This record gives sequence, structure tokens and C-alpha cells, in this order.
Amino acid sequence: MTELCERSCARTWTSVLLGTTLGVLLLVADPAKGADVEKIDWSMLPSTILPLFYPGQSSYQWVRSEEHKRVAKAVENGDPCLECHREEEQDLGTALVVEHSIEPNPVEGKVSLVPLEVQAAHDEVYLYMRFSWKSSGEGPGDMGNFMRYDGAEWQWYGNHRQHEAVVDDGQPAIYPDRLGIMIGDENVDMYPNQGCWMTCHDSMVGMEDQAIEEDVAEHPVVGAIYKQFGLTNSLVRKFLPESRTDETAWDAVASADELKGLREEGKFLDLIIWDAALTNPVGVAADFNVLDVKAADEGRSRLWPNGKMRQGPAYVFDQGAVGFNVLAESDLNDPAKAKHLIVGKTTASADGVAFKEGDILPAHILDVGNAKGSAADVDYAKGSRVDGTYTVVIRRKLDTGHPLDDKILEPGKVYTFGFSVHDDAAGKRAHVVSFPVTVSIGEGEADIQTVTLE
Ligand code: HEC
Repeated sequence: MTELCERSCARTWTSVLLGTTLGVLLLVADPAKGADVEKIDWSMLPSTILPLFYPGQSSYQWVRSEEHKRVAKAVENGDPCLECHREEEQDLGTALVVEHSIEPNPVEGKVSLVPLEVQAAHDEVYLYMRFSWKSSGEGPGDMGNFMRYDGAEWQWYGNHRQHEAVVDDGQPAIYPDRLGIMIGDENVDMYPNQGCWMTCHDSMVGMEDQAIEEDVAEHPVVGAIYKQFGLTNSLVRKFLPESRTDETAWDAVASADELKGLREEGKFLDLIIWDAALTNPVGVAADFNVLDVKAADEGRSRLWPNGKMRQGPAYVFDQGAVGFNVLAESDLNDPAKAKHLIVGKTTASADGVAFKEGDILPAHILDVGNAKGSAADVDYAKGSRVDGTYTVVIRRKLDTGHPLDDKILEPGKVYTFGFSVHDDAAGKRAHVVSFPVTVSIGEGEADIQTVTLE
């Protein structure tokens, strides 16, 4: 690998700059309402190709450890990953995707590098982004978790390829293709330099020192994040070190008052997830944030559990709309069969339906009518997949009006984004990720300069 190189190192990220104001692109009829997102001529906008690579178990703790070749101190002090790793995404991905000291459980056939094409524009109201990448999955990854009736209760059905239910119990490998967009700024300690690695810890699911599930389930905060859905959470997910009172101990969560104070200071991350199964069927993305846990924003998302799991589904398919009430195992490979419960379009109430063993239903519903608040901010995120290549266009208000769980984006300022892609039914940490990427809203030097639409 190369010796240390300064910030001025040549950029490998392919970027074509055409200038930042393209008044010819479209007429914004009413500046107060923003542009018509469907009329943006993306062929006129510059694009940047980001190399997303496979990170193995390179956690917050590992990058600060002795194993990280005598640079633990530098990382501890907040040095940028890219100061030493510019142009190394390909090498890192290749090294980590196979058996390695920080990859004990390689995913068979996993692609180590995914080029993600990014374009970005904004007007007075919205940030618009367009993404394109090639999925390595054979078929469309557009199915989410299912639930299956075993004759007595409902159980989860289908999971990512390395899940024991798939490996040991023969359930189908199902995990939706998805794109994650993490947004932060200088308020979040070290995030501009170290990006997603600030949120990734050894205690998380699939990591070196995964927290004991029973302990997580009993934790009053971490165990309770799905309480309103009748579910216990037994896995640690992303969190920021500042949300802990004892270094990065997953269970040392700061008090509610302290967490509120951190939010008010902007010490949290915004996380938008576009998901081919769980959000795309209604053309939106889900809006999360990361502080003490990864949680949905306030309000109600369009993506919602289908009833209270073990106690049974709230919705079945509408026979009149799709031709059946429930799916059977053999239907899952049939592309002609509806797989998404879209309230008001493909759903009927589950009340009074007599289920039999083997009946399968989606574990989530898409409910546009009841969505509200910050969780419903990303109201346009449409993707399509042609010959394995996804194209997704997303818009989000610059100022969502929800400063406690969204980053309010201001023209002229520079933010740090981190991107991730999941594909080919590989789940959880088996994704590809970017090093931190700077994104400016209009003016401002950055890796990706958002074009101002006029
Ligand atoms: C001060 C320089 C420096 C900084 C900052 C730095 N690294 Fe490293 N990193 C290295 C060196 C040197 C190696 C060892 C290279 C080798 O294995 O040939 C390394 C190795 C790695 C490896 C293992 C590669 C392999 O093949 O075993 C990963 C993963 C990694 N770094 C990730 C990161 C991340 C993520 C960050 C930011 C949070 C980061 N590094 C910050 C210098 C640095």
C-alpha cells in the first residue's frame, strides 16, 4: 500500500464538472415548490463514480487497534481514512472479501467492489440525487421478510444468506437490495474524517464480539426499540460513541436528557434507506437516524410491520385485486405473484381469515395514507432495475422542518455522506460501503458538488 499521502493527492473518483449552475436544465415554475423531479434532465448533470468496497469487520474498535498497522493512534486522533487509503478501495475490498483476520465468515461469491454513480442537484426546496449501480444478484432483490404460519403461530420466513434459518433450516435466502445514504456534518465527532466507521462496533450483529442476544433483549433502551410492534430487539445496530457513557459499551446508553441535548447540538446522523422491496413499491425511501440506536424518525413511516408478528398479521392480500389471499412457498419464485402489501391497493383485512399451515404473508406493509411526520420525509424515491443495473432517483427537502432527526441542508455548506449497497441476498454487515464523501449544496468545494437548478 502507498505511504501516507496528503489531502492534495490526485483524486481517483471520476468526476466531470460542468459548472454548478445549469439554468438551462429545466424551468422551475414555482421556486417555492421546487422542480418537477420527473423532468430533471440527468444527462446534463455531472456524475461521480464512487468505489464502494467490502469492509469485513473493520469496526470502530478495529481501526483503533494494534492490528491496524501502527496507525491506531492516528485514527484515535481522528485522522481521515482517506489520508492513507486514497485509491485503495479496490485493494481493501479484494483483501477483505475472502477469509481474513477481520473476515471469519466470507460470503460465497460476494463482489468486493461496486462502482456507485452519483449525481446531485438542488433548488430552493429540495436536494435531488440520482444513483446507478450494478447489482450482483441474479434476480431482482425485491422481496422483504415474510411470515409463515406453522399451524400454531407465525414465524419469520426467509432471511439473508448467512442466517442460520437459511443455512441450517433450509429457508429461502431473501434479503432486499438496498441503498443506504448516511448524512452527517462537523457536529458529529470525527464523522467527516471517518464516516460510517464511527457507527460500526464490535458488539453489532455479525461482528467480532456480538452482544449476547438475551442481554440485548433485556436492555431497557436497546431491547425496546420495537416494543410498539410487540417485538423484542435482540441485536445491537449502529450507534455513535458519543451516545455512550462508558466509551463504546453497547449497553452504557446515556440518559434520555443527555441524548436530547446531543440531538439539539446536531450530534446525530441522518440515514435514508431506499429498499427495492420495503419502500420502492410505493416510490419512497425510509428515513432513519443514528444516535443511541438506529431508529426510524419521529412520526409514522410508510413502511410498517404487518400486525403484531406472533399474534398474527393485520393484512392479507386482496383476492379481488391480486387473485389470492395468502402466498404459498412455491409462489415466492413466481414473478407473476404479488409480493407487496400496499394498503388500499393489494390488501384486505386479516380479521376472520382462517389460516392453514404453510400460509405465507409479507412481514411488512406499505401504508401511504397513515404516514406522517419526519419518518415520511423522503416522499419520492423511485428505482428501476434493467439487466441488473439499478437507477434510483431520490428527493428530500433541504429543510425538512425536523432538525432533531434530520440534517437540515443549507445552500453553500458542505456535508459528509456515506453510502452503502446491499445485494444478492447478503445481509447485515455483508454490504459494500464508501469512505466519507463530501457533498456541497451548490457553492462549496466538495467531492460531489450539487448543481443548482434554476
Ligand atoms: C495514518 C494512516 C492510516 C489511517 C488514518 C487509516 N489507515 Fe487503515 N491502514 C493503514 C495501514 C498502513 C494499513 C496496513 C496496510 C497493509 O495491510 O498493507 C491499513 C490497513 C487497513 C485495513 C486492512 C487492510 C488489509 O488488507 O488487511 C483496513 C480495512 C483499513 N486500514 C481501514 C481503515 C479505515 C476504515 C480507516 C478510517 C477510519 C483507516 N483505515 C485509517 C493506515 C491507515
